[in-house]
Amino acid sequence: MLDKMKIWKSTKEPDTLDDRIRECLNYKIPNHIAIIMDGNGRWANKRAMPRIAGHHEGMKTVRPITRLCNRLGVKVLTLYAFSTENWIRPKLEVEYLMKLPEEFLGTFLPELIEENVQVQMMGDRSQIPAHTLSAVEKAVQETAHNDGLILNFALNYGSRSEIITAVKSLADEVEKGNLSANEINDTIFSSHLMTGHLEDPDLLIRTSGEIRLSNFMLWQLAYAEFWFTDVLWPDFSDAHLIEAIEAYQKRSRRFGGLQSEET
Ligand code: FPP
Repeated sequence: MLDKMKIWKSTKEPDTLDDRIRECLNYKIPNHIAIIMDGNGRWANKRAMPRIAGHHEGMKTVRPITRLCNRLGVKVLTLYAFSTENWIRPKLEVEYLMKLPEEFLGTFLPELIEENVQVQMMGDRSQIPAHTLSAVEKAVQETAHNDGLILNFALNYGSRSEIITAVKSLADEVEKGNLSANEINDTIFSSHLMTGHLEDPDLLIRTSGEIRLSNFMLWQLAYAEFWFTDVLWPDFSDAHLIEAIEAYQKRSRRFGGLQSEET
């Protein structure tokens, strides 16, 4: 299947950020953006501050990025907030990270409701502290009827464990005789993942100069465009998001096929 995406080819460089946002809107906006929000610790270290100060500053970045995605008509914004591997960090840092969803939602839930954002969460709920989970579940419930941007927090999320869970549930279906092994295909497999109800990401952004996936959406990112930046997450601004989208709009997505002029 060939992508119908237009190539971004403005002759005049737009001047202000607002011009760039308007220009972006003339071209294909990614339906689903996934972000690995990295570099909070380094941001804090550079300022001789404790790592948790970096996480707090990183939390503050979530608001403008969510607002801009909503304005652009992005359908899903998935944010990697805590991985299944992050539990090995110092206890105080883990405890702090588990407080951030409460702080963020405690402050911004009314605004998210007002802006028609729907909050969702993916990850293993069983290990998440009750206070964190209840803040997230409250936001999920209170925004369930919103039909604007889906703000999907990946919290205690790990892609390998997600894939193993999907494999087990498919094996169970086969064992019960509801499905034959031969019937399993991409669509059926995808539907058993935590993102079964979502389209795959079109654009993956990772901040802080690290160029790896860190167990994030390994299946779902198969055809995503990747955009890496040295900017640390607390410094990531609207202008950086627009830069990523502009780069995405210049890419030619072929999904294994040929460019349309080659057919
Ligand atoms: C990685 O940076 C970042 C995290 C493990 C946590 C990300 C969380 C946030 C940005 C806040 C989430 C906000 C909400 C609302 C849930 P790092 O600590 O690995 O940075 P480093 O590589 O510089 O040490």
